[in-house]
Amino acid sequence: MKIAIYPGSFDPMTYGHLDIIHRAASIFDELTVGVLNNKEKTPLFSVEERVKILQEATKDLPNVKVEAFSGLLIDYAKTKDIHVSVRGLRAITDFEYELQIAQTNKLLSGGSLDTIFLTTSLEYAYLSSSSVKEIASFNGDISKCVPPFVAKLVYQKYGHIK
Ligand code: PNS
Repeated sequence: MKIAIYPGSFDPMTYGHLDIIHRAASIFDELTVGVLNNKEKTPLFSVEERVKILQEATKDLPNVKVEAFSGLLIDYAKTKDIHVSVRGLRAITDFEYELQIAQTNKLLSGGSLDTIFLTTSLEYAYLSSSSVKEIASFNGDISKCVPPFVAKLVYQKYGHIK
């Protein structure tokens, strides 16, 4: 069985993330979306909220499960016997950062965790969770960036009730 993990912060999940999830889910038999619980960062959404959002958005994908993880990705992947990490590449600017993570994970895992990259579909190439938060904080339109139920939750966080 081909299994993989798609790790990320997903704060919040965007249509760009969903695009990668759908495509990875069609390549692998089972895909775990790993939501990083990073205690050093203060995310907009708690890890429980981010997991819930992803579960709701992927409920029609039977081979996708969503789980929180903390610590190193290689340690989490090892406990799940997962040897492939999936990451999305939007533009060349992502590449250096992603290459560094991929190579570090390969080295630290003793070669057992590989990374494969899916290039983000062009219509989502401009999207990032950070820009979604910035736009929403000024009550701007994020309807092209996240599903409606996520948009509602993001606006609520900034006190903009829709
Ligand atoms: O959505 P993001 O914030 O770009 O995702 C980054 C993520 C979660 C994939 C990366 O930070 C990660 O795997 N963090 C877990 C800690 C870890 O394993 N660090 C070593 C890689 S350099």
